Amino acid sequence: MNTSEGSFKLYNGLKVDPVGYGTYLARPGSVSEAVKAGYRYFDTASFYKNEEMVGEELRSCGIPREDVFIASKIWPTEFGYEEGKEAFERSLKRLQTDYLDLYLLHWPLVKGDPEWKEHLISTWKAVSELYREGRIRAVGVSNFLPHHLQVLYDSSDIKPMVDQLELHVGYMQQYTVDHCRENGIHVQAWSPLGRGRLRENGIVLKMASDYGVTPGKFLLRFLNQQGISIIPKTDDPGRMRSNLDIGGFTISDHDMSYLMSMPQTAFSGEHPDIDL
Ligand SMILES: NC(=O)c1ccc[n+]([C@@H]2O[C@H](COP(=O)([O-])OP(=O)(O)OC[C@H]3O[C@@H](n4cnc5c(N)ncnc54)[C@H](OP(=O)(O)O)[C@@H]3O)[C@@H](O)[C@H]2O)c1
Repeated sequence: MNTSEGSFKLYNGLKVDPVGYGTYLARPGSVSEAVKAGYRYFDTASFYKNEEMVGEELRSCGIPREDVFIASKIWPTEFGYEEGKEAFERSLKRLQTDYLDLYLLHWPLVKGDPEWKEHLISTWKAVSELYREGRIRAVGVSNFLPHHLQVLYDSSDIKPMVDQLELHVGYMQQYTVDHCRENGIHVQAWSPLGRGRLRENGIVLKMASDYGVTPGKFLLRFLNQQGISIIPKTDDPGRMRSNLDIGGFTISDHDMSYLMSMPQTAFSGEHPDIDL
């Protein structure tokens, strides 16, 4: 999935930057700063209530639409065939665009919904039609575990191209990551820095210092080195730049093995099926 330019390729051929900008809780002005820092991939969602801000800042930067990759997401309370199409149009309007590069089903279900499978199937039908019509360049999901993905495989001939999951040192969801790889689904990490919770982790601090890099760079490299794209969020222009610049070193197999088998840490507690 890794291309020579360092981008990742989805199974439909669309290229995805290895590092995008996560906009959840980003301050006004941060998207414009991120464009200046060199980001061209922006991750938003109807749930973040910031699509207007993202759309406006991208527009006012004057950067051509085709040079930017915009990913947004539909929230489970917006699920359904007609409802899904309407939610998509609302996102487009807020983002001031007439297409999305990537559209994700944000979570597989509203917890406790006995009809969650039906809601997934009808939403995926709507999203797949929009994809076939060329209004979305790639379609995917977020926080889907293998048994959620199976519902889509059984009801559609379009498999998700991306699964965006909480992934970071201390929470690697290897069962789902392996399943995605076996099914050609690109894996993308949300909260790649553990939402800042890993900054003070002793093992991360020690290993990062052994490689002569900051903990942030080390944590991001750990994911990218596995072919996982990342969407870190920061409001700080210096950290924006350093989060983009994560090459120049390779974490050894020995250290990767250690990090991959670390006890669970910095987990958000957010799980699609279980209240933790
Ligand atoms: N699909 C989903 O369900 C889902 C869920 C959550 C998030 N997401 C997406 O994933 C994106 C990223 O996740 P996130 O915002 O939860 O967490 P994150 O990117 O892991 O961490 C963000 C936190 O880390 C700090 N930070 C950023 N770069 C740093 C660096 N180099 N060194 C030290 N600290 C650094 C930021 O603070 P400063 O701003 O002060 O730098 C912020 O407090 C979100 O913005 C959103 O787009 C998706």
